[in-house]
Amino acid sequence: MRYLSPGTATRISRIGLGAWQFGSREWGYGQGYAGQEAHAIVRRAIELGVTLFDTAEIYGFGRSERILGAAIGEDRDSVFLATKIFPVLPVAPVVEQRAVASANRLGTSRLDLYQVHQPNPVVRDGTIMRGMRALQRVGLVGEVGVSNYSLDRWRAAEEALGARVLSNQVRYSLVDRSPERDLLPFAESTGHLVIAYSPLAQGLLSGRYDRDHRPANRLRAANPLFLPENLDRAGDLREVANAHAATPAQIALAWVIRRPAVVAIPGASSVGQLESNVAAADIDLTEDEEAALHAAAVRFRPVSGPAVVPRLLRSRLAR
Ligand SMILES: NC(=O)c1ccc[n+]([C@@H]2O[C@H](COP(=O)([O-])OP(=O)(O)OC[C@H]3O[C@@H](n4cnc5c(N)ncnc54)[C@H](OP(=O)(O)O)[C@@H]3O)[C@@H](O)[C@H]2O)c1
Repeated sequence: MRYLSPGTATRISRIGLGAWQFGSREWGYGQGYAGQEAHAIVRRAIELGVTLFDTAEIYGFGRSERILGAAIGEDRDSVFLATKIFPVLPVAPVVEQRAVASANRLGTSRLDLYQVHQPNPVVRDGTIMRGMRALQRVGLVGEVGVSNYSLDRWRAAEEALGARVLSNQVRYSLVDRSPERDLLPFAESTGHLVIAYSPLAQGLLSGRYDRDHRPANRLRAANPLFLPENLDRAGDLREVANAHAATPAQIALAWVIRRPAVVAIPGASSVGQLESNVAAADIDLTEDEEAALHAAAVRFRPVSGPAVVPRLLRSRLAR
């Protein structure tokens, strides 16, 4: 495992574990997964040196936090635990109360990273950051983070907090390189972090799916990336892996964390996937491989926009 230590007491593994899948109906992994496999995934992740674990109050309406906290158990002090508040009513007293509720579900007295899940379109960040400041003062929150923020809004949040907002958690993968425009250069030059979510594009980049083998769950049935045409078009992106003796998922993850200020939090549906994802932290891509991936990423033009709606409907009916 490789780590970053941006002035935090616990170092942060370059490959973490995303826990949206734990107890969330939209992934459709069922009771056996929530009750046993999720626990085994977390235990194996800790054994392999993963320290970064990401969840949110909204995942499974608190179930993800409960499952994750129980599985971490006595290893609490060796991990960097991150959760998120969904900023519906982001006034300070509500923020404080919601942080306490998350900490209780996680079975901890400290949230290492407390993130604003997405920018509130109406309320500016001054109000939420007042709550965050109070939480930091009493030691319930270590670092403050944001998610799905533009660079301007990330900076404004930092100004409102009056201290660093360590990280911005955003979608970043071979099929969505938009953080490269300004978030990555900012993070790299200022000691901030970008936490890459959906680094496998929810499994599109895993090599497991093609037009004849599409994922069944309703989350991905509604994701245009999993339309047959787009699965065909993503074929190129999986090719480099064959030359590297790694899996497509590992190459996709190695590509995401090649940038120095990025850590990735892939989700996993099995212990085997987790082990494979952790191993990606040690892969160094060659310049040729990076160039080949870049070229394939530029060539990848998924069907998108209004054109996807009738296609999604057709493909749902065809199942
Ligand atoms: N802040 C936000 O707004 C936001 C949004 C989305 C996600 N997130 C966070 O980011 C985390 C990860 O994102 P994500 O879950 O959307 O997508 P992801 O990590 O790109 O994809 C996860 C899925 O890919 C498949 N997979 C994982 N490892 C694999 C491997 N080694 N080989 C083959 N398939 C593999 C699994 O699905 P199958 O086995 O079923 O194919 C798994 O459930 C979440 O858990 C959550 O913590 C945050």
